[in-house]
Parts: sequence; C-alpha cells; structure tokens
Amino acid sequence: MKVLGISCGRDMGNSEILLKEALMTCEKKGFEVEMIRLHDLYIKPCLGCNGCIISCINGHNGYCHLKGDDMDFFREHFLASDALIISAPAYNNTAPGLFRMLGDRCGPSFDREFKRYARDFKGADIDERWFKDRPAGTIIVGGGPSTHVQTALDFMFHFLKSPKCKLVDQFAATFCPAPGQVLEHPDYLERVSKLAENVVSQVGKKFDDIEWLGGDNFVCPNCHGNAVCIDTETGVHCATCSKPGQFVERDGKIVVEFFDELAADDPEYRRQHIINIGKRHDEFREYLKAHSEELHFDKYKDYDILVKPERA
Ligand SMILES: Cc1cc2nc3c(=O)[nH]c(=O)nc-3n(C[C@H](O)[C@H](O)[C@H](O)COP(=O)(O)O)c2cc1C
Repeated sequence: MKVLGISCGRDMGNSEILLKEALMTCEKKGFEVEMIRLHDLYIKPCLGCNGCIISCINGHNGYCHLKGDDMDFFREHFLASDALIISAPAYNNTAPGLFRMLGDRCGPSFDREFKRYARDFKGADIDERWFKDRPAGTIIVGGGPSTHVQTALDFMFHFLKSPKCKLVDQFAATFCPAPGQVLEHPDYLERVSKLAENVVSQVGKKFDDIEWLGGDNFVCPNCHGNAVCIDTETGVHCATCSKPGQFVERDGKIVVEFFDELAADDPEYRRQHIINIGKRHDEFREYLKAHSEELHFDKYKDYDILVKPERA
C-alpha cells in the first residue's frame, strides 16, 4: 500500500518539511511512501479546449490531449497510490499557482464519475485504478493567521473532488513566514503526524466507510469547509462544495442548517453534471446551424486591441 505525498512548495520549505514528517509516520505504520515535488515537474497550463470532457462524453478515457510535459508521470504515480497527502504554502490566501495549474489539468480529466459515465454508458475502456477509494489529508502553511490561508484548503478539496479521494483530515500551520520555521513548532509536527495516522487508518476502506477524523472545527458537514455563500436568490450554500442550506437560530447562535441535497462531489451530482454539459454542447451545435450569423462572432474576432510582448 502506497501513500503519495504531493509537495507544492519549495525544496525543504515549511510545507515540504511537514509533508516529510507525515510521510515518515506513514512509513513507520508500514506503508510505502513517495513524494512528488511540483517544482520538479513541467506541467503545461490547461488550454480550456474541453477535450477531456468531450472525450468522456464520446466514450473515451478523458485524458488530456496536451503532450510533451510531465502529466503522464503524475497520472501514473497518482494511479499507483492508495492514499494522498498534499502539502502547500498559502500564496495570496489560496494554494500556489503551480498547484492550481495541476488542478486545472486534473479537473475534468481525473473526474472519476465522468470516467464511470464513459465506461458504463458509452463503453469506454477505463483503467480500474480510477475507481480505487483513496483517503486523503491536506496541509497548508501560511506566514499569517488562519484567516489568510482558508481558501487554500478549499481549493485542495476541489483537487480531491474530481478523482473522488476522501478527505480524512486537514491542518493549517500558521505564522510561519520564514523557511524552516515550522520546526520551531513541535505541536505542528505532532499534528501532521496524527494527520498521517488518520489517513493511513482509512486505507483499504470503501468510500462511504472512510471516516472524517479531523475534529469539529468546520461548518459544512460534507466537505468540512468553513466558507458559506449568501445568495439573495438561492439562499445559503457551502462556498466549497455547493451544499445548500439555510441560516437558523440555535441556542442563541446563528448557524447553517444544511439540507439533505446533493453537493458538488456527490457521484450522482457529477453524473448529472457531465450529462448536462453534453446536452448543452449538443443544443448549441444545433443552434449554430440555424443562427450562427446572428451571433456576430466576427464582431469580437475582428476587434483588434490585443497587445503582446515582442519576442526575438
Ligand atoms: C507569493 C507569496 C504569497 C504569500 N501569500 C500568503 C498568504 O496569502 N497567506 C499567508 O498566510 N502566507 C502567505 N505567504 C507566506 C508563505 O505561505 C509562507 O512563507 C510559507 O511558510 C511558505 O511555505 P514554503 O516554505 O513551503 O514555501 C506568501 C508567500 C509568498 C512567497
């Protein structure tokens, strides 16, 4: 059984030290471990071609068409893993761009339910390892307080959402701006070691049996995030996983009561999502047959205001 660590920060930076501490614990528990440092990979940015989604809709494996970078390497190590631990520094209140870029490339392209749809409804030949139930833990390190790191953890949930890895524990290490400063905090090292124990304790379980072991400091019972959106039309929903709810007063406090409705990571939600995308593509293709003249594509194509740097 293998735990894959994904290091999204500097070589021997704070996030990498915490990840290594976590992986050492996994090893002590008898697991094989390996670590990928994103700074070592060359990952091209997603071109937004929708090819991965269309591929699944048309009964193929949904792999990205972009070639000539390290995505094949990353995919292979992901598929070979049985659990994940991701560790990243907070940059601009969220996860670093390098990790977000990987997230774009792994979004629809790694979506387990899109692949299930391609296999079950379109006859695609899908590697069985996409359907392995992997527990996961996430770690974030910030130079500032917890309010400066929150959306990084939310982004990590979305990274895990596509391949349907189940979040078991998450930890934000705060007030560590200087390289190596996490070592000043034995409690942080202990906490990530506990996170690792929690993650490996869930390896081999079926998805629905994998437990959340990260404590009770969360608002949303589905994704364990703390961010809530208030929308005048649709009411309240979890800003991370979209689970709908409403504000209620309980014991003199305003809290969110979540409804028993699907969140964005639910398999049925994902299946409907790919079916709806397919429908909208079909509808627009039909619409264009009769109305393409009326849409005035050329008006925008010919609007020549682009400036670009000159290259030799
Ligand atoms: C570009 C940049 C943006 C940063 N933005 C934040 C931030 O929004 N919130 C925060 O708490 N720390 C922020 N930091 C501080 C880093 O998260 C902190 O130094 C962390 O320990 C770096 O982790 P590393 O050593 O693994 O690279 C930022 C650092 C950099 C370089």
